[in-house]
Amino acid sequence: MESALDPHTAKALLEWQIELGATEAIGDVPVNRYADARTPATADAPPAREPAPRAGATAAAPAQDTEDDPVTEARAAAAAAGDLADLRTALAAFDRCDLKRGARNLVFADGNAQARVMIVGEAPGRDEDMQGKPFVGRAGRLLDRMLEAIGMARDAESAEHAVYITNVLPWRPPQNRDPKPEEIAMLRPFVQRHVELAAPRLVVLMGNISCQAGLGRRGITRLRGQWAEAYGRPALPMFHPAYLLRNPGAKREAWADLLELQARLREAP
Ligand code: URA
Repeated sequence: MESALDPHTAKALLEWQIELGATEAIGDVPVNRYADARTPATADAPPAREPAPRAGATAAAPAQDTEDDPVTEARAAAAAAGDLADLRTALAAFDRCDLKRGARNLVFADGNAQARVMIVGEAPGRDEDMQGKPFVGRAGRLLDRMLEAIGMARDAESAEHAVYITNVLPWRPPQNRDPKPEEIAMLRPFVQRHVELAAPRLVVLMGNISCQAGLGRRGITRLRGQWAEAYGRPALPMFHPAYLLRNPGAKREAWADLLELQARLREAP
């Protein structure tokens, strides 16, 4: 166990794991197996981990604790983005969130960026991670049907009928675990800037994580259907479609909230 693995053995072991059905990494940060192999294992020593690379860090000058905290760095990167393409590039270059290293793709947005309504979901799941687009799995298909019921669609060409969709987190958390408060805090400046640049009239906060990021509080059962303000815009909290799949009885409230959204759009187009 203490000898370093040669590349052929490492590849064979990897293929063996894939054959056994391991299809994805489940840790928050990658494990450096080469370092493990060089370090004699002790019964209770934790596995060696790669330090998270930091933006601007070089091999000769590793990142120190004196560096900006991730939220400050995120704020500066997001504020410097002059349009949505810049923001996507800034997010792709943001290296302070470990989720990035376990994700297959950055999930930035989908839909028509001119839309009057911007939906902010929670985080990509497996399908979104594979395709690099938000809400494309089961919950996404339900979301599309919900929008269709009020004459809206993410691919509508006219801004009047379109929606624009993003998530609080652009990278899939391992095993779809809940985002951690520090992950929400460091990615929030990007969501804030995303809303500023897309400039929708209304924002929909899908589920508790989205309410946490946008309003600083959870409790979707109480918050849903009540207009609030998030990212400087009128915002409507709604049940997340994944919740509706598990609790079909709550579709009645979701329908009421969709009608509320439609009514608000008709008030002042
Ligand atoms: N749930 C979300 O909140 N966002 C997605 O993109 C997919 C599922």
